[in-house]
Amino acid sequence: MIIRDPDMVTEAALAAVARASDQRHAEIMSALVRHLHAFLRDVRLTDAELETAFDFANRIGQATTDSHNEAALFSDVLGASTLVCLLNNGMTGPTETGAALLGPFWRLNAPEMENGASLLRSPTPGTPLDVSGQVRDARGAPIEGVRVDVWHASPVGLYESQDPEQADMNLRGVFKTDADGRFQFHTVRPLGYPVPTDGPTGEVLRAQRRQPNRPAHLHFLLYREGFRTLITQVFPDDDPHLAEDPVFGVTPALIGDFVVSGRGTPDERCALMCNFTLEAGTARLPTPPIK
Ligand code: BEZ
Ligand code: FE
Repeated sequence: MIIRDPDMVTEAALAAVARASDQRHAEIMSALVRHLHAFLRDVRLTDAELETAFDFANRIGQATTDSHNEAALFSDVLGASTLVCLLNNGMTGPTETGAALLGPFWRLNAPEMENGASLLRSPTPGTPLDVSGQVRDARGAPIEGVRVDVWHASPVGLYESQDPEQADMNLRGVFKTDADGRFQFHTVRPLGYPVPTDGPTGEVLRAQRRQPNRPAHLHFLLYREGFRTLITQVFPDDDPHLAEDPVFGVTPALIGDFVVSGRGTPDERCALMCNFTLEAGTARLPTPPIK
């Protein structure tokens, strides 16, 4: 097609995309071309701004390493990861979803551990936290043999993959539910932490004058054949950043009941009970964002 005006570019690009033999590819790419062209018209993007966008995309790739996923982080702060999570996990239906975004710090192959074991693999000062819970199906029956994969940041706000002071796989572990669907483990209470701001995503947060701190949380990934994999997070109800999570990850269903005893004394401890429901379906592990 010889292009005689701007509208013909959109028409020609849509016709080109429609040649794809994969129907899902054609559906996604034609929606992308329609929305992208509408966006470019809407903001009247300048040549200099397009060059800035190329530079930004290139730097997202350059900032990504085996232990850091800048593309996932940028998707998270745009709200794209949480939106996809909620659209795919029942937030549009009659029940509230228990799912949350995966985030950029899940690692495959965390050590399998006995129920009751500690996640601490190197000295990690902090308030002791005992976590227990039960996994049930949609009818309320306990599910045995669910892999409960847990990971969280240390009380200084760093995952072990970001922190040379912590042992490999510190504050990560995989537990298996018993015949009553129960699991339990010991750890220390995590604190909130800033999302990484030393790359291009940090520039965007600063340009938008956004605070970078996520509320404290524990991550869970629950996996068993025959059930949809549940990826979720649990937040303490007293965290000051619950309503201003930079990755929009907090929904009411994810606020947990952290029970503190001996508050303010040297014997302060915390207990958290978290129950999860798995829907029947196909189990699927996500692609790990880091190695
Ligand atoms: C996290 O939960 O670990 C996380 C999620 C999104 C961006 C950065 C960190
Ligand atoms: Fe996290």
